[in-house]
Amino acid sequence: MKAKVRVWRGGLVALLVVFSGSGYADAAQEAQVVVHADQPGAVIHPEIYGQFAEQLGHGIYGGIWVGEHSSIPNIRGYRRDVVDALKAIKVPVIRWPGGCFADQYDWRDGIGPRDKRPVRMNASWGGEDSNQFGTHEFMDFAELIGAKTYLSINVGTGTPREMSQWMEYITADGHSDLAQRRRANGRDKPWKLDYVGIGNEMWGCGGSMRAQFYADVYRQYATFVHAPGNTPIVKVASGANGDDIGWTDTVMSIAGSQIDAISLHNYTIPTGNWSHKGSATQFDESEWMSTLQGALHMDDLITRHSAVMDKYDPKKRVALVVDEWGNWMDQDPGARDAALYQQNSLRDALSAAVTLDIFQAHADRVRMANIAQMVNVLQAMILTDQSRMVLTPTYYVFDMYKVFQGATYLPVDVQAPAYRYRNASVPGVHATAGRDAAGVVHIAMVNLDPHHADTVRLTLLGVTGSAVDGRELTASNINTTNTFDHPDRVMPAAFAGATLKQGVITAVMPPKSIVVLDIH
Ligand code: AHR
Repeated sequence: MKAKVRVWRGGLVALLVVFSGSGYADAAQEAQVVVHADQPGAVIHPEIYGQFAEQLGHGIYGGIWVGEHSSIPNIRGYRRDVVDALKAIKVPVIRWPGGCFADQYDWRDGIGPRDKRPVRMNASWGGEDSNQFGTHEFMDFAELIGAKTYLSINVGTGTPREMSQWMEYITADGHSDLAQRRRANGRDKPWKLDYVGIGNEMWGCGGSMRAQFYADVYRQYATFVHAPGNTPIVKVASGANGDDIGWTDTVMSIAGSQIDAISLHNYTIPTGNWSHKGSATQFDESEWMSTLQGALHMDDLITRHSAVMDKYDPKKRVALVVDEWGNWMDQDPGARDAALYQQNSLRDALSAAVTLDIFQAHADRVRMANIAQMVNVLQAMILTDQSRMVLTPTYYVFDMYKVFQGATYLPVDVQAPAYRYRNASVPGVHATAGRDAAGVVHIAMVNLDPHHADTVRLTLLGVTGSAVDGRELTASNINTTNTFDHPDRVMPAAFAGATLKQGVITAVMPPKSIVVLDIH
């Protein structure tokens, strides 16, 4: 991780900082952030702001798709409110249809007239799938919101032939039978398929494979990934579960030359106990701390997986793709029919911000990430209830951070008092920075401490700012949520705590807050 606590390098101050009084002056601590605009790093791929939408619970049905005859306002069956909200955060890529669901999915069930499609058991998550949302509905949806497409291929119970036929159905531009069937089903032009994941969690729900075996299976499938005119499609190997560095090592050693990207899945469980993960809303400071520690662990994971990848790929041709990440809490007790439905609080916002900071610090290797999941499932952007929709605190982080999509990463040093709770301790302030195509420097800072404000002295090396503005996200309590009745309790507000006077930047960050500054 480049954003780390380290000794302050005095004497390099380009923009000196002075603190004046604030509402938090009594409790305020001091922190220092240095942004190395003079040492630009890699481009921050927009795809690290990607989403994951699995066919489960109300993630798709009710969340995205209501059908064109619904009384809920929709665009050809897609909820209009959800489409507008997703467009606003510039979703760069969507992964679908799973997750575990993908390895039991038959794509042929989801094409053709909707009233003829078979209802299937959802063996992964319970209930049934009507197949009303299939290939056409997904590819058109991605097109509608302007996102790239990432298909998770059924390797667990499928065949290479089914995969290559699915790809032909989607991408063929000639007169093959599959292209003609696509046209007969309403889509003339081929779609653009950007990424294919060769299986999902092949060590678990994808087939309980050992790494050696999967690596050979990957090679077999990868041989048959192609699209007309050699259109490039990024092939993503099913990667490790959290700390399983050995999986990455084995798969890279056996199949590395045929891999474009390898995935990593990591979830934060506040209690560390899968049978009692912790409540999304009723938690104390120890679970606030453990959740933030879980988010910070992402840096260690990426560093170690990337180091092993370096053995086989020192030039970092192969991307590390964190295509499932986020907080996994107990299912909301009030939503028993909605698998993996959980509320989302300020805690989720801060842990998302810290994780995105870490992805950016590893922009040279991490070139896509997909938060789990987009709507109504796990750490969602959006929750829906019939015709109502609410945007979560995590949504607003993606909104505030969208300025980083495509920017050039700028290394950051942070010196801040630790935030401690009982025996646990984490850096009190986390930060990231990037410069966009217009030359504006964006700096995001997270104050992890729920009790103390931080007066941050900001130094930019290699650039001189003449104006600063920004937005902040905070709330009254660590577990404040947006609800259908109170949808605006956690929302970004203009940040009044930054000043730039005579070349001096000061930012007074409230406790438990996220601030994104734009320096012109
Ligand atoms: O995101 C929920 C599930 O978590 C996915 O289906 C699976 O890949 C992972 O274990």
